[in-house]
Parts: sequence; structure tokens; C-alpha cells
Amino acid sequence: MAKEPLNERIRKFYDRSTPLWERVWGEHLHHGFYGFDGQGKPSHSQAQVDLIYELLKWGGVEEAKNILDVGCGVGGSACYLAEHFRARVTGITLSPVQIESARQRAAERQLSNSTEFMLADALQPPFKDHSFDLIWSLEACEHFPDKAKFFRECYRMLRPGGILLMATWCHRPEPP
Ligand SMILES: C[S@@+](CC[C@H](N)C(=O)[O-])C[C@H]1O[C@@H](n2cnc3c(N)ncnc32)[C@H](O)[C@@H]1O
Repeated sequence: MAKEPLNERIRKFYDRSTPLWERVWGEHLHHGFYGFDGQGKPSHSQAQVDLIYELLKWGGVEEAKNILDVGCGVGGSACYLAEHFRARVTGITLSPVQIESARQRAAERQLSNSTEFMLADALQPPFKDHSFDLIWSLEACEHFPDKAKFFRECYRMLRPGGILLMATWCHRPEPP
């Protein structure tokens, strides 16, 4: 039997599992920052927020007006970025369940006017050239089967001088 297309499998995975992630991890489906030595003791939810700010610091991002969050999950980062930069943030994901949750979260934080969440594929993003000054992608790129295409799309969508800030799962080469 032919395997289901990858994006369909990812969609099903997140549609089914997102309510569980939200119960366990809250509004961020990413890991936390516990200091550079890993010994910090913030609450886990605070560590997830700290990771956002640590990444911004690391990337030297001081301002942004138009942000794209690729693989936005349930919109946690998008809401923080919209508030922090007073920016317009567009989040894309493959999961309708996540879109629903992200829109609800944004509404609760009075951010419906500055955020937008839509179903779209990171490798075929429906945005014009030079649309964004920051592209953010946190713990999502590990899913994208063609990383080179993703980078080309980011280059196309970023305005000149714009920034791609991405953190993703990696592993070292392993012995056979
Ligand atoms: C572990 S979650 C991370 C969510 C979010 N970035 C966060 O930090 O809370 C991975 C996300 O990547 C999204 N994703 C995976 N493949 C994608 C693709 N090809 N296009 C768009 N989103 C994708 C999933 O739908 C999910 O929202």
C-alpha cells in the first residue's frame, strides 16, 4: 500500500496530539532555556518563554514589523513576537487543530488584529517576495523534507536585510 504523503502524516500527527502537548507543554511546543550551563531553575513554562528572548538576543533582532512564523504550532511564539515588537505576525502550520487554538489564544490576548494563522506548507508558502523582515521558525524545520528549498523560499520572502531566525532539532552523524 502506498504511504500517505508526508504532510498528511504530519497534519494527522499534530491534529491528534496537539491537545495532549497543550496539556503537558502549554502554549509553546518547544523546549526551554535553562541558562548556558543548563543549570538554571526557572519554571518550565518560563524557560520556554526565555528561549524566545534568548534566540532574539542571539540573532541580534532589535525590531521587526512584519514577521512570518513557520511551523507556528498553537501560536505561542507568534503572540509573544506580536506583543514584543508591536508587529504583525503571520503563522503557518499544517494542522487545522493548531490554527483553531492559535486564533483563540490570540483573541484572548487581544491580538486578533495583529496576528493571522493559516494553513500553508513551509515549502510552498503563499506569500509575495520581500513580504517579511523577520522569519521565525522554532523546532519545526526538522519536519521539512527539502531544507534547501525552505532556505530559498525564506530568501525570496525576506526583504533585503531581513533576518531568518531558526532553531531546530539536529543530530550528529551516528555510527552505522
Ligand atoms: C513541534 S511544533 C513547533 C511549534 C512552534 N514553533 C512552537 O515553538 O511552539 C512543529 C510545527 O511545525 C509544523 N510543520 C511541520 N511541517 C510543516 C510544513 N511543511 N509546513 C508548515 N508547518 C509545518 C507543524 O504543523 C507544527 O506546527
